[in-house]
Amino acid sequence: MFDFIKNPVSQIDTWIIGNWKMNGSLLFNEDYLEELLAKIEVMKFDPSSFCGLAIPNVYLFQFSNRLLDRNIHLGAQEISSEDEDGPFTGDISAKMINEFDCSFVVIGHSERRNKYKESEIDLVNKAKVSLKNNIIPIICVGESVKDRDQGNANIVVRTQVKQFTMGLKSEDLSNCVFAYEPLWAIGTGKSAEPEDAETMHRIIRSEFSEVLGVDPAEKIKILYGGSVKSSNVEQYFLQPGVDGALVGGASLNASEFCKIIDKSIRTTQNK
Ligand code: PGA
Repeated sequence: MFDFIKNPVSQIDTWIIGNWKMNGSLLFNEDYLEELLAKIEVMKFDPSSFCGLAIPNVYLFQFSNRLLDRNIHLGAQEISSEDEDGPFTGDISAKMINEFDCSFVVIGHSERRNKYKESEIDLVNKAKVSLKNNIIPIICVGESVKDRDQGNANIVVRTQVKQFTMGLKSEDLSNCVFAYEPLWAIGTGKSAEPEDAETMHRIIRSEFSEVLGVDPAEKIKILYGGSVKSSNVEQYFLQPGVDGALVGGASLNASEFCKIIDKSIRTTQNK
């Protein structure tokens, strides 16, 4: 279980989160784990970095023991907004994923916001439930290509962030991690310009400073996601306001994912 007291989110400088989405199979996972475990054995991790993999919930059992104390946290891609067991067919609770030592959960990914029309209130509740169960919520926000073309990117993202600044207590907000993922960059190979990501991160941070004040807002962790790979990850980490990367497709290749981790840690150390 993640310990917010021992490891305050604000003190973790480098975040690299892989999001497998609906990929994997028992066989694929075995090969992946074998390669990943061999590679991380010889890699240099920094105590102020947090690396994690969000895999489909059905595979948590397969991964859980194997990743224990191996510098790669296990995470889920989704949890129920309900905290107590009950008549919620298909839902998986925070308590359930906790049994597999999940440290984090992705909340509000655009693929879920759009396909399942998750309401903002549901997303805020999911963040609350995850914090209550000592799981870091990784909250995704981002604009569509239409929003951007119409000049509405900033207001759309601000509005998404506001749901959380208004719905969560300040002390809870500082235990959340946010991920800016422009929809047009997800799975397209068309990543955002690092300077544009930096600009949006600044806008997001200004929302936090309205409720938290400038200094605590500076400590909120904001990741960039959207076609991140080992060949472009350094450019993002070089931006002062980018604290990490949420990596989709590229995290499905163990060797590529390890390269991303390695480059991210080294770039932050030299920042
Ligand atoms: P991608 O996905 O890296 O494949 O663009 C990112 C995400 O959806 O989190």
